[in-house]
Amino acid sequence: MKILVTGGTGYIGSHTVVELQHQGIEVVIIDNLSNSHAGVVDRITEISGVRPEFHQIELIDREKTNVFFAGHPDLDGIIHFAAHKAVGESMAEPLMYYRNNLDSLINVLQGMKDFGIRNLVFSSSCTVYGQPDELPVKETSPIKEAWSPYGNTKQMSEQIIRFAVEAYGLKNIALRYFNPIGSHDSGLIGELPLGVPNNLVPFITQTAVGLRQSLNVYGSDYNTSDGTAVRDYIHVVDIAKAHVVAVNRMIGNKGKSDFEIFNLGTGNGFSVLEVINSFEKVSGKSLNYKIVGRRPGDVEKVWADTSFANQELGWKAEKSLDEMMRSAWKWEQALAGRK
Ligand code: UD1
Repeated sequence: MKILVTGGTGYIGSHTVVELQHQGIEVVIIDNLSNSHAGVVDRITEISGVRPEFHQIELIDREKTNVFFAGHPDLDGIIHFAAHKAVGESMAEPLMYYRNNLDSLINVLQGMKDFGIRNLVFSSSCTVYGQPDELPVKETSPIKEAWSPYGNTKQMSEQIIRFAVEAYGLKNIALRYFNPIGSHDSGLIGELPLGVPNNLVPFITQTAVGLRQSLNVYGSDYNTSDGTAVRDYIHVVDIAKAHVVAVNRMIGNKGKSDFEIFNLGTGNGFSVLEVINSFEKVSGKSLNYKIVGRRPGDVEKVWADTSFANQELGWKAEKSLDEMMRSAWKWEQALAGRK
């Protein structure tokens, strides 16, 4: 089996490439390296023992994308990760987000249509639910009006895919990730935020390693057990494994329909302070943090109903919060050691 992974040198993409290779699946990567490094291909090779074919291509360039597909007639499917993903940046640069995230998807779908590639796994997000009315949130929960252009591109992408699947006889599985954190056990690949991280866990580990002075905890007046916001954190390797299951499901014709959606979470919600406590426990370090006001655009609490994914995919997230924090810390220390 041969799978194209777009965004394959990125955070979730690189972990997924490794899991595909562990199952003997041949991988071709496209990445424009706008938020990752070519060196990740070497790291993937070090872990799996197999060098994936790599192409630095802008997927928003229709011509170049077309040339790539013309030269790869033997692809069995595509996992499409390549996209901008920073919520704050998308508020400042909405057109950049719509152009990049939607044009690249359309060019990928065009390639599938023109070159007869049927199977697509799409990287979606729990952000499509906004603040759900009911928790845990199910795949059938209503899609709320988007709070950011980033979230809006995920909603629009799902719709674009749904109609393309119907019109061109394609198949898709959209995976809605909750909060992916942690890194590969090897310490060779992980999250590499450019500049100051926006996300909680890289900010925690960078603070602990001395790159940042202090963590701001955004809000302590939420309606949660300790007042801080609650999320469903899930280990990135658990997320990566779900992609292998999704690919096999489509190629083995095991799906219930040609357009399926699954939540990828653990089903457990943890508050910001619980995440900090877990980090302090596994690292043995006390974290410098202070409580500040809420971050605009944040939802109060969200966690997944995972029963549909567990039953249908036969997949379940396995790693605990402590394991996630341990691996995130190991990665940060490995990075510090390399500098
Ligand atoms: C959001 C989106 C997610 C998207 C991600 C991309 C939702 C529910 N989730 O994740 O789909 O993929 O952005 O970036 O919309 N926090 C702090 N201090 C910090 C950083 C974060 O207290 O320095 C808190 C936040 O207020 C939040 C939690 O930690 O309560 C997690 O934040 P973060 O890691 O940024 O992820 P989300 O905002 O949940």
